[in-house]
Amino acid sequence: MGEQRVPLVSLLLAYVVLNQGSCSVSGTNVPGYQTRYVEVQVDHFSFANSDTFQLRYLVNDTYFKPGGPVFLYTGNEGDIEDFVKNTGLLIEMAPRFGAMVIFAEHRYYGQSLPYGQDSFKDPAHLGYLTSTQALADFAELIVHLKETICGTEDSPVFAFGGSYGGMLAAWIRMKYPHLVAGSLASAASIFQFPGITDCEAYSHVATRTFQKSGAGCPEIIRSSWDVIQDLGKTDPGLRKLTSMFSLCTPLTTDDMPTLVDWLVNLWMIYALIDYPYPANFLTPLPAWPVKEACQLITSHEDVVSGVAAAAKLYFNFTGQTACLDISQPYYGGLAWQYQACTEQIEPICSDGVNDMFPPIPWDLAAFSQACYERWKVRPRPYWAVTEYWGRNISAASNIIFSNGDLDPWSVGCVLKSLSDSLVAIVMEDAAHHLDLRPSDPADPPSVVKARAQEAAIIKKWIQEYHSATTR
Ligand SMILES: *[C@@H]1O[C@H](CO)[C@@H](O)[C@H](O)[C@H]1NC(C)=O
Ligand SMILES: *[C@@H]1O[C@H](CO)[C@@H](O)[C@H](O)[C@H]1NC(C)=O
Ligand SMILES: *[C@@H]1O[C@H](CO)[C@@H](O)[C@H](O)[C@H]1NC(C)=O
Repeated sequence: MGEQRVPLVSLLLAYVVLNQGSCSVSGTNVPGYQTRYVEVQVDHFSFANSDTFQLRYLVNDTYFKPGGPVFLYTGNEGDIEDFVKNTGLLIEMAPRFGAMVIFAEHRYYGQSLPYGQDSFKDPAHLGYLTSTQALADFAELIVHLKETICGTEDSPVFAFGGSYGGMLAAWIRMKYPHLVAGSLASAASIFQFPGITDCEAYSHVATRTFQKSGAGCPEIIRSSWDVIQDLGKTDPGLRKLTSMFSLCTPLTTDDMPTLVDWLVNLWMIYALIDYPYPANFLTPLPAWPVKEACQLITSHEDVVSGVAAAAKLYFNFTGQTACLDISQPYYGGLAWQYQACTEQIEPICSDGVNDMFPPIPWDLAAFSQACYERWKVRPRPYWAVTEYWGRNISAASNIIFSNGDLDPWSVGCVLKSLSDSLVAIVMEDAAHHLDLRPSDPADPPSVVKARAQEAAIIKKWIQEYHSATTR
């Protein structure tokens, strides 16, 4: 049973979901972490529903010294175990700080399903999937930790997160500053909401990342759209496309929008995960995958062959993929699709002139209709700006915003420091939240420097926390 696709790039783009099966309950434990659960309200904001559920969190207290900080990863859209595997910074910093490391799972992902297998059944069960409810879960968890773990009573809590998790890390400090002493929000696109960021900016940065990685590469990609569309008009052309991309199912004219959409997403994802070493974030890829893709794109005589070779690099780096399936979403478990249709409305568009994509306007009405058909809900596109302060976050404090300049999401992030305690760091040659990943000899100097700066700022905030509480 195929999931109905919403043919709009912004929905599919969403964020990086590490694992698709938001319904599947995986029992494997991550080495180095204990699994625990805290009981939380399904609805923190009314008394109409008194149901509760078990929220999962993972703990490593090996380096913890009583009174030392708690480093809390505010989990985003995926099984929390995958974030542990892709986020090395917390545990690497823990010994220096005598810190406890905790990864908290976001409701409706992994094992933290408010209504078990019924969680996705209908809007009545799914409606509690909001960022505000998730932040309240984390707030309750912090209170619970302080009550149940000896030595944490006076501990400052620092929130960490990347991507949507980075937004949550920033927002939890803004909403619950009495519980969270400070945050490291990496690739946190808290400004990527309607009316406060230009929808084309994302496509510009994606194009720039390809430009940096191979001279002429974006130009070839831009020229590929017409060639592909022309091939899609005839039966021999469709057969040629099917064969070049080694597609699992023969392409039809009706599939052409899906193919284009799939390619647009492919390039955007490449830019996102352009890491300097071989990584297995969404899929196994070589070091600097955009450079590798551009090499394939620019070295083929035939435009479509080059594009197809780059697609195969993404889907078949391991050599285990028999055929490519354009109907498979790259990521985006059920739960994230729902979030992207309700409050996480982050417009992305392209014009085909200043970027390498085909012209794709941002069409809220069509988006809303597709969401209604899929989920029986319509977006509240401007609610996030009201709820999370829009662009004027100057009343907040103690948040580090780190950004990689290769990352298209950076356009919606805080790129300039707004005060002494709202500190922006831009890392050159870095992709999506590279600073949070385990350190690696191939990390660019900007990332090594950013991590040192982040640690120094957190150290300062810990001192400030203790001098404020002992006064
Ligand atoms: C905590 O993490 C460290 C570093 O990965 C590891 O050496 C240690 O065994 C872990 N602690 C527990 C209790 O598993
Ligand atoms: C994936 O790579 C293997 C090994 O090179 C190859 O046999 C297979 O045909 C490739 N699959 C696709 C879809 O290109
Ligand atoms: C931003 O908000 C602060 C108070 O939170 C206010 O003093 C300031 O005028 C606002 N700035 C803008 C540009 O709206």
